[in-house]
Amino acid sequence: MILVKDCAFSYDKKPFISDVNFEVKKGEIFGFLGPSGAGKSTLQKILIGLLKNYKGSVQVLGKEVRGQKDDYYEHIGIDFEFPSFYEKLSAAENLKFFSSLYKNTPRNIDSLLEQIGLLRDKDKKVASYSKGMKSRLNFVKALIHNPEILFLDEPTSGLDPSNSRIMKNMILEEKNAGKSIIITTHNMQDAAELCDRVAFIVDGHVKALDTPHNLIMKKGAGIISYSYLENGKEIKAECPVTESGKDAKLQKLIAEGKILTIHSMEPDLGDIFMEVTGRGLN
Ligand SMILES: Nc1ncnc2c1ncn2[C@@H]1O[C@H](COP(=O)(O)OP(=O)(O)OP(=O)(O)O)[C@@H](O)[C@H]1O
Ligand SMILES: [Mg+2]
Repeated sequence: MILVKDCAFSYDKKPFISDVNFEVKKGEIFGFLGPSGAGKSTLQKILIGLLKNYKGSVQVLGKEVRGQKDDYYEHIGIDFEFPSFYEKLSAAENLKFFSSLYKNTPRNIDSLLEQIGLLRDKDKKVASYSKGMKSRLNFVKALIHNPEILFLDEPTSGLDPSNSRIMKNMILEEKNAGKSIIITTHNMQDAAELCDRVAFIVDGHVKALDTPHNLIMKKGAGIISYSYLENGKEIKAECPVTESGKDAKLQKLIAEGKILTIHSMEPDLGDIFMEVTGRGLN
């Protein structure tokens, strides 16, 4: 569905995005993970045809993006980083207006609003919507024409846990319906849960690309942390999971039944991001 080869781009004379290569298959969720200013939104803008003077090849649905015409937007749905609406119109009026721009509008607006939890507020002016309500409405706006590919730029940012859960379930429903999805996020839990594969992006470069599971397994060293009583005091200790068989103290404590607590701690995607790139996600 998406094939990017040796993509490079600069806003001014300085090279910014370079050597970007990846592909996204049908039904796949692909994540861009990286700190602020890394180039995630820039890459999304290249993919959706807003920045056409890139170098290399960026093919979506078998066609080079720089040559795509307006009908490209019938096939892709975009949830921009910053919501944009007619503030004086209601949510329902906005969605009706945006639907009218497409040839295909097979989705029922009320049922989308119901799913995202905005049906009760559909006749309120968007000007009166909270930040989270606008984000949810912006997400639904990307779905109205039932596009094959979705570009979601930080869709869950700023949402409360329950609305974030609802949106993530809707994203997974789209995947199950065969849509390909590119999602940008700072949130490594969301990335690990939603994405089939992720690309770590720093300073316009892809520093790693794999499934969340493989990234964690390739790089991460799990730790066993345990505690025991010594002279009435709880003592804490840890050792790498791979070394647990060789940790004489741990073996002895287990054999003597003297372990107080024991658990393993696997690194998460954020730890791996730090290890691979030397940078945090924020
Ligand atoms: N229109 C523009 N003209 C010049 N520079 C720009 C433009 N848009 C973005 N940039 C620069 O490109 C870099 C990457 O911006 P981008 O918006 O792609 O980052 P991001 O990874 O999406 O960050 P965030 O997580 O904060 O959204 C930043 O240094 C930004 O200042
Ligand atoms: Mg961005």
